[in-house]
Amino acid sequence: MRRKLAAGNWKMNGTAANLAGLSALTEAHGNASADLLICPPATLLSRAADAAPTIPLGGQDCHANTAGAHTGDLSAAMLKDAGASAVILGHSERRTDHGEQDAAVRAKADAALDAGLTAVICIGETLEQREAGDTLKVAGNQLSGSTPDGATGANTVVAYEPVWAIGTGKVPTLDQIAEVHNFLRAELVARFGAVTGNAIRLLYGGSVKPGNAAEIFAVSNVDGALVGGASLKVADFSPIIAALEQA
Ligand code: 13P
Repeated sequence: MRRKLAAGNWKMNGTAANLAGLSALTEAHGNASADLLICPPATLLSRAADAAPTIPLGGQDCHANTAGAHTGDLSAAMLKDAGASAVILGHSERRTDHGEQDAAVRAKADAALDAGLTAVICIGETLEQREAGDTLKVAGNQLSGSTPDGATGANTVVAYEPVWAIGTGKVPTLDQIAEVHNFLRAELVARFGAVTGNAIRLLYGGSVKPGNAAEIFAVSNVDGALVGGASLKVADFSPIIAALEQA
């Protein structure tokens, strides 16, 4: 059985004032049946760890190298030192804004695993690719290209985030989500074998809201969500977590 995971990606949002909500999340969901992960901007990691010591925290990117002359970048070990236990890698916004491609994402994921962080590897097609009928091909290529050979259920999570669903209020149909997630599961089993392939969690991300969370969590091979906008407010994220706990 894979444990469910509700992950919040704050993206480039949040200052110290936003940390107050974390203890409310701990109180509401502290002993729950679903795992939580909050990925605030790196500037807040250590203060988030102080504010809510029991909530697992993640970064939103890391460098593939352990240290060196890379102005503005952060290593996986630095994120860990600041309180992170995970890191989001290959998010479509980084692929678009910073030209990150699968090989770079995979190198970062290797670095994350070496540092003892869980890699949350993001993949997903653009609208153009979906309309061309290339969704599974794109998702499959990104999955194989971005996921390290050392991936296990303990150190790797895959998030399927259709680019056209991120921040748009548009979501795929439940059948479309099931098609991709079932495909990704089969690809993971084919590459890593049944035990590991069935242990790696598959999150859906893209316009998950309190109103659609329960139906998405009922889809086969959806083990939770990577939530952007709705993770910024406790009033939105808490019911999403509750829906996952009940799934
Ligand atoms: P939204 O939930 O705001 O659509 O963002 C999803 C996402 O990109 C999470 O990584």
